[in-house]
Amino acid sequence: MLRRLYHDQPETFAFTPENQKWAEAQMKKFPEGRQASAIIPILWRAQEQEGWLSRPAIEHVAAMLDLAYIRALEVASFYFMFQLQPVGSIAHIQVCGTLSCMICGAEDLIGVCKDKIADQPHALSADGKFSWEEVECLGSCANAPMAQIGKDYYEDLTAERLGEIIDELAAGRVPTPGPQNGRFAAEPLKGLTSLKDYDSGNTKYNASAQLATDIGDTVKRIDGTEVPLLTPWVKDGKAAKPKGAKPAAPKPAADKPADGTGVTKQEAVAKSKAKPTGATNPDPVVETAPETLSAPRDGAADDLKKISGVGPKLEGVLNELGFWHFDQIAKWTETEIAWVDSRLKFKGRITRDDWMAQAAALAKGK
Ligand code: FES
Repeated sequence: MLRRLYHDQPETFAFTPENQKWAEAQMKKFPEGRQASAIIPILWRAQEQEGWLSRPAIEHVAAMLDLAYIRALEVASFYFMFQLQPVGSIAHIQVCGTLSCMICGAEDLIGVCKDKIADQPHALSADGKFSWEEVECLGSCANAPMAQIGKDYYEDLTAERLGEIIDELAAGRVPTPGPQNGRFAAEPLKGLTSLKDYDSGNTKYNASAQLATDIGDTVKRIDGTEVPLLTPWVKDGKAAKPKGAKPAAPKPAADKPADGTGVTKQEAVAKSKAKPTGATNPDPVVETAPETLSAPRDGAADDLKKISGVGPKLEGVLNELGFWHFDQIAKWTETEIAWVDSRLKFKGRITRDDWMAQAAALAKGK
């Protein structure tokens, strides 16, 4: 495929201040004189910010790294992960068209993209919101056919489901990533045949889909103000300290809202929680213990799993904490939510999935 710069280029490119700082930090990872080694992550960040790599963006990165423009263009045009033309303002959909996916229905998925987005790959939809392309194997062959949308994988797709996903994204929602046919992960379609006592912890989805759901930034553009991705060696936002290390003075967590680009509902949540400009110290979180029960009333607990975001493990945790009924959850106040939230493994899901509204509706039999 011929990869060249797009015919219609913007005048300029600039990183957001936070992304600029991030890019400069990448350059410091390399010995003096070897800063060019940071080119891929910095080009990638430019793409994460804008959706694609324009000529001014490539030149900006080249100038930062003290490289001839052609050197940066060589990298940008060599790797197919770099988009050299504008992509949909909401999402760029990458449909896997390699063997497993192709024999399981990738052509139907591409048909949906042609119908709903544009006849040709890399072309924008009429409203500019979507674009698509066929890509090589994305390593999720056991869940074929699949597509990558933004940062996440949507697996076990059908043409109908992909159409729904595109509609949901167009409506500003982020559909749950992962298998779309009810599978937990990549187990046999007819269910587990071995290791049947596998315990997934208190997650509703498999680890990848759960983390993607918890972070929820699938199609969000990155402006550098995002809370860093938690990694397994980071607990509650803090890196584990080596043995014997002195405790550091407590630092307030950055509590900045997400930027105004993109369409995810997570951004809307972030905006609603945004501090006034200039505020850096978050208010201390006040917790109060909600009223709990030592056992379900009349020995009959509600099925808390009916609340979206609550799986069997999480239901067990809620029961252990003393919550058995929808009406208990529906009544939680802000400080009580903080109390419960601090006792759950993944923070923030109560408000994100609006358990209280769900529980109130379920309590009324809806
Ligand atoms: S063939 Fe599609 S993910 Fe491997």
